[in-house]
Amino acid sequence: MKNIVLIGYMGSGKSSVAKALSVKTGMKLLDTDQQIEKEENRRISDIFAADGEQAFRDMETALLKKLLNDGFQGIISTGGGMPVRDENRPLLKQLGQVIYLKTGVDTLTMRLTGDGSRPLLQGETAESKRRKIEEMLTRREPSYMEASDAVIPTDDVTTDALADEILLYMSYADID
Ligand code: S3P
Repeated sequence: MKNIVLIGYMGSGKSSVAKALSVKTGMKLLDTDQQIEKEENRRISDIFAADGEQAFRDMETALLKKLLNDGFQGIISTGGGMPVRDENRPLLKQLGQVIYLKTGVDTLTMRLTGDGSRPLLQGETAESKRRKIEEMLTRREPSYMEASDAVIPTDDVTTDALADEILLYMSYADID
């Protein structure tokens, strides 16, 4: 089967769905955030704090190019900002079938409340966090849409059901 690349906002469930897909298919799993943390031997929040966001974005692009170069095969879960950089969208498409996990603002706000691991959402109150998520989501939506081959709504759908839906899509699309 062709590679599956998951994109979507922070908290949309990319990592959990990618894990479920990997278990169901036996395909290798790569999470770009985890891979960057492993290669850098530091947390993403530390990379942002020490080197700034642009340095992290450069690492993301470099990783996509490396995966393409290495002919990586498997399931790829990406950081929520990956499709925003113009250069990354064609790279994502080349890597595999790109699935956008589309999640509503209310669900995202609920999932991201109390989360301390995302540097772009730090220092927000509960109310300002919701506004920030809404504003970022609106800004990013065109990039997510342009980058994706398929859009899967995730609100009120279990991880397991989402993984099954994606596998059904992969078989219907006849892209094995
Ligand atoms: C980011 C999302 C994060 C991580 C970084 C920036 C973003 O990944 O890459 O904090 O810009 O949306 P997750 O989507 O896995 O949280």
